[in-house]
Amino acid sequence: MDTFLTIASKRDTRAYADEPVDDGARRRVLDAGRLAGSSRNSQRWEFVVPTADAQARLAETVYAPDNVRAAAFVVAIVGDASGFDVGRCAQNMMLAAWNEGIASCPNGIRDSARAGAICGGEVKTILSFAYPARPRDPRRRDAGEWSARANRRSLDDLVRDV
Ligand SMILES: Cc1cc2nc3c(=O)[nH]c(=O)nc-3n(C[C@H](O)[C@H](O)[C@H](O)COP(=O)(O)O)c2cc1C
Repeated sequence: MDTFLTIASKRDTRAYADEPVDDGARRRVLDAGRLAGSSRNSQRWEFVVPTADAQARLAETVYAPDNVRAAAFVVAIVGDASGFDVGRCAQNMMLAAWNEGIASCPNGIRDSARAGAICGGEVKTILSFAYPARPRDPRRRDAGEWSARANRRSLDDLVRDV
């Protein structure tokens, strides 16, 4: 898919289909995270993929447990990376996923001590991935239309010259 169309049509999705995501797609998502830049290329992260049992326990550590419980797979970004670096890494993974029709959502962490104990390190974010319950074809609109429909502040509001 065109990069801008992928960006413009991506929405954080919380209703998931009960359909597995194959190993190749999972690996491409993880590789997109691996490829993210980071401060001085420090890469101070690990990508923790919980088993079904650990995923169920991890669900209890976030504000919206169903987002994690019902996901086809989950990636916790763990380590000492800065917020900026974690954001780059997470968005790479989510856009790579959406490029192949896999939806995603970041999860706010309610109990970081428990999440850290499950994942074996400081959990910076927990990402849920799955095919969406209601499939959405990005190509049904052009990128400009997706952009115009997005629930975001306008560029007029965000951009200023100095
Ligand atoms: C740091 C962070 C934490 C978030 N935590 C949650 C969460 O706990 N539960 C949830 O349903 N969505 C969570 N989200 C998703 C936001 O609600 C979402 O990014 C925003 O509403 C835009 O959604 P859209 O892309 O579908 O318009 C989180 C997003 C971020 C960046």
